[in-house]
Amino acid sequence: FGYLNYLVKRDRRFIADILINGLHRLEYRGYDSSGIAFDGDDVEGSDTKQSLKSRRACVVVRQKGKVEELEHVVRSLENIDWDAEFTVHVGIAHTRWATHGEPNAVNSHPQRSDEQNQFVCVHNGIITNYKDIKQYLTNKGYKFESETDTEVVVKLVKYLYDKHKNENISFQKLIEMACSQLEGAFALLFKSTHFPGELCATRRGSPMVIGVKCADQLATSHIPVMFSKDLFNHQNSKDSRNDIQLVETTSANLRGVFSPPLMITDQSASELAVTGNDRSIEYYFASDASAIIEHTNQVIFMEDDDLAVVKNGALTIHRTQHGEVTGQSAIREIHELKIELQQIMKGNYKYFMQKEIYEQPESVVNTMRGRVNFSAKKVVLGGIKDYINEIRRCRRLILIACGTSYHSAVATRQLLEELSELPVMVELASDFLDRNTPVFRDDVCIFVSQSGETADTILALRYCKQRGALIVGFTNTVGSSISRESHCGVHINAGPEIGVASTKAYTSQFLALVLFGLVLSEDSISKEPRRKAIIDGLQQLADLIKKVLECDKKIREYAEALYKESSLLVMGRGFNFATCLEGALKLKELTYMHSEGILAGELKHGPLAMVDHLMPIVMIVMDDPVKTKCMNAYSQVQARGGQPIIICNEDDEELIKLTSRHIAIPRTVDCLQGILCVVPMQLLSFHIAVLRGYDVDCPRNLAKSVTTA
Ligand code: G6P
Repeated sequence: FGYLNYLVKRDRRFIADILINGLHRLEYRGYDSSGIAFDGDDVEGSDTKQSLKSRRACVVVRQKGKVEELEHVVRSLENIDWDAEFTVHVGIAHTRWATHGEPNAVNSHPQRSDEQNQFVCVHNGIITNYKDIKQYLTNKGYKFESETDTEVVVKLVKYLYDKHKNENISFQKLIEMACSQLEGAFALLFKSTHFPGELCATRRGSPMVIGVKCADQLATSHIPVMFSKDLFNHQNSKDSRNDIQLVETTSANLRGVFSPPLMITDQSASELAVTGNDRSIEYYFASDASAIIEHTNQVIFMEDDDLAVVKNGALTIHRTQHGEVTGQSAIREIHELKIELQQIMKGNYKYFMQKEIYEQPESVVNTMRGRVNFSAKKVVLGGIKDYINEIRRCRRLILIACGTSYHSAVATRQLLEELSELPVMVELASDFLDRNTPVFRDDVCIFVSQSGETADTILALRYCKQRGALIVGFTNTVGSSISRESHCGVHINAGPEIGVASTKAYTSQFLALVLFGLVLSEDSISKEPRRKAIIDGLQQLADLIKKVLECDKKIREYAEALYKESSLLVMGRGFNFATCLEGALKLKELTYMHSEGILAGELKHGPLAMVDHLMPIVMIVMDDPVKTKCMNAYSQVQARGGQPIIICNEDDEELIKLTSRHIAIPRTVDCLQGILCVVPMQLLSFHIAVLRGYDVDCPRNLAKSVTTA
C-alpha cells in the first residue's frame, strides 16, 4: 500500500493512519508481519548541492505479527513529531505472507538499501533470480541483512544509483534499469530520500491499482479519454481494437465518471499522465482496490511492465523496455469502482467469513441479477454472448482453477456435460501446467478465480492463450488480471470477499457456471424441461439458502461435539462430491484438523480402513439419483461402528427416521443441491475454528490471493 499527497497538507499522524488503515484492508492477503516507511525529519549537514534531494530522512518500522502489532509499535515510537505537517509526502506499507525468510522484523517490508534507508521498497511476488543478483552485489561489497528476495531489488537500485548519480539520473530511469534485471513476479513500490515527494510503482504478474483523488474539478476541453465498452473486452481481447474507442470529449461530457483526474495520453511517448496541474492531489497505490475505495473510487489498473511515477504531483505511466517486448498498449483508463465501503466492513458480524456466509442469499441473487428472466425461462450472459456459437462448436471445455474455485468447477462438471454435450475437463492450474497438457485452437479454456489474480491460474491462462484457445474468465474482481486477459467472461458479482476461506464466492462461481450451462443449451429443444426445472430452482435459491442458515444453532452444537477431534472425513458422491472436497478444504483451512473429502464410490478402495467407532464422519446423502449408492456407503460405515452426521433433505423421512444425527436442509433441483449442502459445511468449519480459538478470517500460513506460482 502506498500513499502520496501533493499540495494537500497532512500531518505525520494522518499519514501513518492512512498507511496502517490501508494495511488493515489488505491484511487478508497476508498477515505474518508488516511494516511502513514514512518521512522523518530533515537531516542536518546534508550535501548542499543535493540539499533538496537528501534532506529528509526516512523512518522504517517493521514488526512480526499482525498489523495491529505494528500499529502498537508505531504509536509508541519515541522522538517522532506526529504533528509535523507535510504538503508533499510519500509513505509505503506492506503486510507480508512469507515466501523467502521466516516472518520476523528484519525480513518484513519495507526492505531497505542501507542503514540510512536511502531507498526503500515493498514487494508482492517472488524474484526468482534473486540469488544471482545477490551474489553479484555481494561481490561488489554489499551486505544483506534479511533472507528475503526483495532486499536484492532495493540494493540493486542503490547500486545503480551510486553508479549513475553523477549523470543526474531520474528515479524512473533507476527503477526501470533495476526492474529490467528482475525475473519472477512482482508488484513493487519505491520511495527514496534522494527523490523526496516521488514514488515509483511497477508490476509484472502481481496486481497493482492506483487510486486518484483530486480536490477540485479541472476545466479543460478536448481531452482524449479512453472508454472501453466492457472490461472483459479490454485490450488483450482478440478484437480489442474494435472494442475500445478513442473519443475526443470535453470535461462537460465526462459526466463525473472520468472528471478529474484527467487522463492525457501521449501514445508516441508511450506514456500517460494524470496531472494535478499544480492542484492538490492524493494518490493511493494498493494490491487490491478494497484498500482504496474509502478514499476514492477513481482508479487505474496497472498492466504488467507499467512503471508509474509520481513527480511534482503528476502521475505518468510508462511502458518499460520489457513491456515493449510484450507489446501491450500504453493506454490506461480511469475506472469508477462500484464497490461500497460497507461491503468491505464487517457490519454486525464478528468475522468477515461469518458475514460472507450469511450474505449468500443476497450474493446468489446478485450473480443472477439482469441475467435470468424467470418468466421467459431465459438466461443471458452479456460478457460471453458474442462467443456462444464459437463455444458450442468447440472440441472440449477445459475448466482450470485452484482451491475453492477448482471445486466449483468439479461441482458443475456433470451439469455442463449434460447441458452442452461436450467433453468437459476439470483441471488444477498447477498440475495442468506441470503436465504440459496439450491444448488446441478449438478448445475453450475457462478460468475460474475469485480474485482473478492467482498466479498458477494466470500462468495456465497464458499457456492456453498462446496455443490459440478461446479464453473465458469467471472472476469476482473487476479489472483483475484474469478478467483483463480473457477474451470474454462472466463476473460472478458476489461482492468483495475478505475472509481468506472462500464461501460466497464458491456459491456464486457454482451458480455462474450453472448459468453458463443453461446458455450453452439454449437451442436444445430436448433439454427444455430440464432447463425450465433448473431456472425454477434458481428462483427459489435465495430463500432456500436462508432456510439452511436457520440450521446454524444445530450445526454449532455439532461443532461443540467435534471441535476437540483431530480428524473429520466428509463423504458423498454425484453432484455432491465437490461439496465433500470443499467441506474438507474449509475444515483444513480454518480448523487445521485433518480432513478429507471422500468420493463414496471409492470408500471400499481404501478410505474404509480409517473408519471405526471413533472416526468422526459427515456424509452427504441427498434424495437424488445416487441416493441408493450413498446409502450403501452409509451401511458400510455403520457396519464398522461409524456414526456419521448426515446432511440430508428435510423431507426425506426414511433417512430422518434412521438417524437422529442429521442436518436436514431443503430440497432443490439435483444439480443445484450442492449450493445448499455446502452451507452447513461452511458453518461447521467456522464454528469449530471459533471454538478452537483460531482466527477465522486469517488462518495460519494462508493468504487470500496467492499471487506467486
Ligand atoms: C487461495 C485461497 C483459496 C482460493 C484459492 C484460489 O488458496 O486461500 O480460498 O480458493 O487461492 O483463489 P482464486 O482467487 O483464484 O479463486
